[in-house]
Amino acid sequence: MRARPWLNLIDNQGCDASILIDAPGSEKYAAASKTLRGFELIEAIKTELEAKCPKTVSCADILTAATRDASREVGVSYWPLVYGRKDGRQSRKEAADKYVPMGRESVTDLVAFFESMGLNVRDLVVLSGAHTIGKASCAAVKPRLCKSKPETLDGKYGDFLRRKCRRGDAEHERVELDGVRPTAFDNGYYKNLERRMGLLETDQKMLHDSRTRSFVQEMAREPEEFKRQFAESMRWLGNVQVLTGSEGEVRSKCSAVNY
Ligand code: HEM
Repeated sequence: MRARPWLNLIDNQGCDASILIDAPGSEKYAAASKTLRGFELIEAIKTELEAKCPKTVSCADILTAATRDASREVGVSYWPLVYGRKDGRQSRKEAADKYVPMGRESVTDLVAFFESMGLNVRDLVVLSGAHTIGKASCAAVKPRLCKSKPETLDGKYGDFLRRKCRRGDAEHERVELDGVRPTAFDNGYYKNLERRMGLLETDQKMLHDSRTRSFVQEMAREPEEFKRQFAESMRWLGNVQVLTGSEGEVRSKCSAVNY
């Protein structure tokens, strides 16, 4: 049993759907949010729910449930959810840019960030396994190309990334986070790290740091354990700094706070 995640980062918010608020200066407009998608889908779910039971299901609960169900679709184990999250009334782009990891952090900083949310080193390694799907922009990959020592970056993979991110339109170019099986939700991310084919600097560091290495090796060896552990860590992630009772509200529209 873990302790309730505690808040030691004053303006760092948790699962309160603040990312969905569409207002000048909100998180949605942070540089860290540039490639986020799917806002319309969450709003469509909210519209249907509001028609049937107004002001009952929060946007934070919708996001949490949609994340669980999407994960199930790609083969992650089921995890049970407790509902009743309230939506926050604050959303500041500066907070997102300050706290969302961008792929250049040290393992020490990532461990501290996860611990501030009540998550441990194992959660850090397991949740990073989400990078078995999706893409990153060349801007996020550049530090890896400039700074990585040859012993931490496969030569051919490095050449491929340099070619891909050097094109004229490289600013808009995106690269698969899992360069081997990019659309399968599997433990390939960890196997890639062992091949020195992690895309982000932060990904590859997980293999080379003594605090995270054994977890990476375990996940690379045990594909089913990864899916089970991923579900377990996601369950905890969905409980981070949840607002309840009068701490928040149930929005009528996910993109705006109630008037
Ligand atoms: C551990 C620290 C983490 C760092 C440093 C990190 C960093 C990043 C970066 C830089 C990108 C590329 C963004 C872009 O250029 O568009 C990215 C993408 C992504 N991240 Fe993470 N991330 C972390 C944790 C997580 C966690 C915990 C999850 C989910 C459980 C996650 C899921 C994803 C997914 C699915 C994408 C692909 C998005 C897309 O295809 O547009 N990441 N991450």
